[in-house]
Amino acid sequence: MSTPALHDRDTTKPLDIAWARAQFPSLQLQVNGQLAAFLDGPAGTQAPQQVIAAVQNYFLTANANTCGAFETSRRNDAILAGAREAMADFFHCDADEVVFGQNMTTITFALARAIARDLKPGDEIIVTTLDHDANVAPWRALEEKGVVIRQVEIKEEDCTLDLEDLKRKLSGKTKLVAVGYASNAVGTINPVAEITKLAHAAGALMFIDAVHYAPHGPIDVRALDTDFLVCSPYKFFGPHMGTLYGKREHLLRFNPYKVRPAPDTLPDRWETGTQVQELIAGIAAAVDYIAELGRRHDPTAQDRRSALQSAYKVTRDHEMKLLAQLIPGLLAIPGLKFFGITDSRQFQNRCSTVSVRLPNHTPVETAKFLGDCGIFTWDGNYYALDLAERLGVQDKGGFLRIGLVHYNTSDEVTRLLSTLNDLTR
Ligand SMILES: Cc1ncc(COP(=O)(O)O)c(C=O)c1O
Repeated sequence: MSTPALHDRDTTKPLDIAWARAQFPSLQLQVNGQLAAFLDGPAGTQAPQQVIAAVQNYFLTANANTCGAFETSRRNDAILAGAREAMADFFHCDADEVVFGQNMTTITFALARAIARDLKPGDEIIVTTLDHDANVAPWRALEEKGVVIRQVEIKEEDCTLDLEDLKRKLSGKTKLVAVGYASNAVGTINPVAEITKLAHAAGALMFIDAVHYAPHGPIDVRALDTDFLVCSPYKFFGPHMGTLYGKREHLLRFNPYKVRPAPDTLPDRWETGTQVQELIAGIAAAVDYIAELGRRHDPTAQDRRSALQSAYKVTRDHEMKLLAQLIPGLLAIPGLKFFGITDSRQFQNRCSTVSVRLPNHTPVETAKFLGDCGIFTWDGNYYALDLAERLGVQDKGGFLRIGLVHYNTSDEVTRLLSTLNDLTR
């Protein structure tokens, strides 16, 4: 047998879940004598110690406004620049194409209003039935300017997007296509690279809501060639904020509403008023946490971008194993209604977020029962309003959502399944 060449040697290791969990102090929380199981990640993940320390360190050493002629202001500016570099690695773009904002919803309303300055009555925007309302309402708000909104349908049987419907709705009138990368309700991952190509072929801009996808998979705006992409660090182990990637040419071309003395350069022209700078410090730490996880998995991944890619490879493997345990366990509960992809051969089209309804218990009753047992899930429509209406659950309390991220364990899934079985028995 020949000796493998150096580059053939697999240097990767499995997810070090003990290390990962040890980084998150809040995972030690107890409820009614039980260790909390945080299956509520789609509404916001827990934060590792590195993020908590970065926010605290900001207040201790760098608490000042921007561009002042003194030490703490210089430190503040360096922290903001570092966070922008971190998000540029996260998105795979240049630092001046990264915009920080209060949250994805606020950023999207502001961007939509700016883009609308260039639109005329009869111009069309495409949205989808699968999306969170934060990627629908800001575009629908432009109807008051005469913009026409066209909504892409889903395939009800597995909650995937109906691409044929999207193609039918695209035309020379389409100015922008707004699609989610992954559904925050049913976990479907949309073929955003393909949709971007379709949008561009029709002469439209592409806007991707990657809020739900960001904790589950690597984002590469260059490879996607999207014009805009948004996500929220509080969904990927960081603080409660939002971030936007925009192609430089668009961030320069469109005109945001801004105060006159504020710089008109990038990215400042899009960041109105004083930012939540202590939280921006935490964003850099969140990205660095994910990169550190990646380096533990693959010590050869030295630069931050490769370390991030390595992290998502190992967390995705872990999440898919949990999903392969969770979905059959849920389907074995008599009378349970499952929304979305269940076939493991289609798992490449979904992430580890599932929505169900139990017989004889409303989602809020189920979530309350689980919550009292220390298992945190979510009930309702999670603002995926059109989807909840389309699936006929909007006036029935919505769905029960179970979200798994890399710090969740097989034991937690077992505990969830046995508690649900207790409730339905
Ligand atoms: C898919 C998706 N898009 C958008 C949002 C809104 O994000 P934010 O809370 O940052 O405004 C959420 C929040 O849950 C979401 O899950």
